[in-house]
Amino acid sequence: MDNKQPIGIFDSGIGGTSIWKEIHHLLPNEKTIYLADSKNAPYGEKSKEEIIRLSMKNTDFLLDMGCKLIVVACNTATTNAIRELRAKYNVPFIGIEPAIKPAAINSKTQIIGILATKGTLNSELFNKTTEIFFETKIIEQIGYGLVELIENGQIDSPEMEQLLRSYLNPMIEANIDFLVLGCSHYPYLIPQIRKIIPDHIQIIDSGLAVARQTQNVLKEIGFNPDNNNEPIFYTNTNPKVLENILGGEYIVQEKDF
Ligand code: SIN
Repeated sequence: MDNKQPIGIFDSGIGGTSIWKEIHHLLPNEKTIYLADSKNAPYGEKSKEEIIRLSMKNTDFLLDMGCKLIVVACNTATTNAIRELRAKYNVPFIGIEPAIKPAAINSKTQIIGILATKGTLNSELFNKTTEIFFETKIIEQIGYGLVELIENGQIDSPEMEQLLRSYLNPMIEANIDFLVLGCSHYPYLIPQIRKIIPDHIQIIDSGLAVARQTQNVLKEIGFNPDNNNEPIFYTNTNPKVLENILGGEYIVQEKDF
C-alpha cells in the first residue's frame, strides 16, 4: 500500500528526537515532520488537562501539515493524553511508554529502577502497567530538573552529574539490574548515566520499539513509495538547541504554534 503523506512526531521539546532517529533509521523512505514544543517544556510537572490541551495543539499543527500518522514521542504526553487523542482524531497514534515489561521479564534480581517525570509516574496508564508486574520491585524516581538541563544544552554539566548521582545511587544500593529510561529526553544522558552505574546494570529505553510499532501501522495505512524523505523540524523557541542535538545536520524552522 502507498501513502506519500508524512509521519508527524511531537514532543515537549528536543528529547523526542531520540525516537525520531530510530524511525528515520528504520524507515528511511518515510517523510517526517518533527515538532518540538520547547516553549512549554517540561510537560512532566503540568496537570493532565494542560498536557491534553498541549498534545491536541501539537496534533492540530501536524494534521494541518497533512500527516498520516502521529507519533507521541513523549512519555508524559502518551501516559496522560493518548486516550483523549485517539478519541478525538481519526488518525493512528503511536505512543511511547516506559519499557517496564522487558525489564521485569529479564531482571535476575527482580529489582528494577525507573527514571521518569512526575506526570508519567503518577499516570493511571503507568500504574496499571506496574500492577501487572507485582512480583518485581520497581524503584521509581522522578527526574526533577533533568529535562530543563537537557533543553538548556547542559547535558555535560556538573549540575547534571550531581542530579543523576542523587537519583541513581539509591537504585544501585537497592541492587537493580535494569534501569528503565521513561522519558524520551533521557537517552541523551546515557553516556553520563553509564559513568555512574556499574556495567552489569542494563539501560533500556523504548525508542526502537516505537519505530517498530510505527512500521507495523504503516503496513496497514501505507508506506511512502518515493525516496523523498528530507525531514522537517519545527520548534517554538531558539532553533539552535534542536539543531545542536541533531548534530548540526539539519536546519530547524522557528514557528509560533
Ligand atoms: C517532559 O516534558 O517533562 C518530558 C518528556 C517525556 O516525558 O518524555
